[in-house]
Amino acid sequence: MGQLPDALRLGTSEYRRMTNTEPPESFQIPLEAAEAYEAAFVPAFFAQWAPILCDAAAVTAGQRILGVACGTGIVARTAADRVGATNVVGVDLNEAMLTVARRVRPDIDWRQGDAAALPLDDGSFDTVLCQMALMFFPDPVRALQEIARVAGTDGTVAVLVPSSLDAQPAYGPFVDIAARQAGSEARSLLSTYFACGDLGDLTTLFDKAGLRSPTTATHLGIARFPSVDALVTTEVDSTPLGERISADVRHQIRDGARDILAPFTSGDGGLEAPFEVHVVTARRP
Ligand SMILES: C[S@@+](CC[C@H](N)C(=O)[O-])C[C@H]1O[C@@H](n2cnc3c(N)ncnc32)[C@H](O)[C@@H]1O
Repeated sequence: MGQLPDALRLGTSEYRRMTNTEPPESFQIPLEAAEAYEAAFVPAFFAQWAPILCDAAAVTAGQRILGVACGTGIVARTAADRVGATNVVGVDLNEAMLTVARRVRPDIDWRQGDAAALPLDDGSFDTVLCQMALMFFPDPVRALQEIARVAGTDGTVAVLVPSSLDAQPAYGPFVDIAARQAGSEARSLLSTYFACGDLGDLTTLFDKAGLRSPTTATHLGIARFPSVDALVTTEVDSTPLGERISADVRHQIRDGARDILAPFTSGDGGLEAPFEVHVVTARRP
């Protein structure tokens, strides 16, 4: 796998805090990065969650479905296979992700927009899905309010996020190693992905957005990499951490990762790192 761009690893507020600079061009990523995301990261990681999210939300024929922060569209495509493409809309901030989404599934309605101000009417959807993105939003409650607004009365909202680092059998120990070698800044840079992973905090976000009595489920999947070194490259070099550590520290992180992740490697060196997620589902009252 190649590198995951900053924009897909850090939220805008996180980027500002970590780098003391504004995110480049409102965090738009280049088209090649979006194509690499679709070609490498979707099959190796993101695709496995889409049926789980659609099942949790009970996506069935005839429903109108919205995918928020849809990326290159794996969730919207999975939903479209169940409800028909004309019933599905995908929204994302990044135009490059949408360009790839349009190339792959031109029959779905893809729109550029911010989760905090969705360019859609109240109550336009039966179900709104959001996969692997809530932790990037500067104001997750605001985004959930917007999601609830477009879902309308009795609509279903389903959100999938990674569990906390302390529940991650591979990523938890990996981030511990990086923090030991590169300091606490490494922990906070590498933790963004897991920032919404505490189930109590997550359901509180739903509550604050007016989405009462959410149902939760936890699933274990796999993050596949061609090697442990590929994981280190993805996780370290795709954040500002990559530019801040010396070659020595990088080697120490890599050697530590090789040891700690050895139980998850196969004979050909491929890595199958277990990865836990939470799915939260709620009805808009
Ligand atoms: C890790 S990707 C997940 C994409 C997709 N849901 C999937 O599962 O493949 C995160 C996505 O969130 C999008 N994103 C980040 N902040 C956003 C915002 N405020 N509004 C809409 N999309 C946003 C990014 O452009 C990116 O496509």
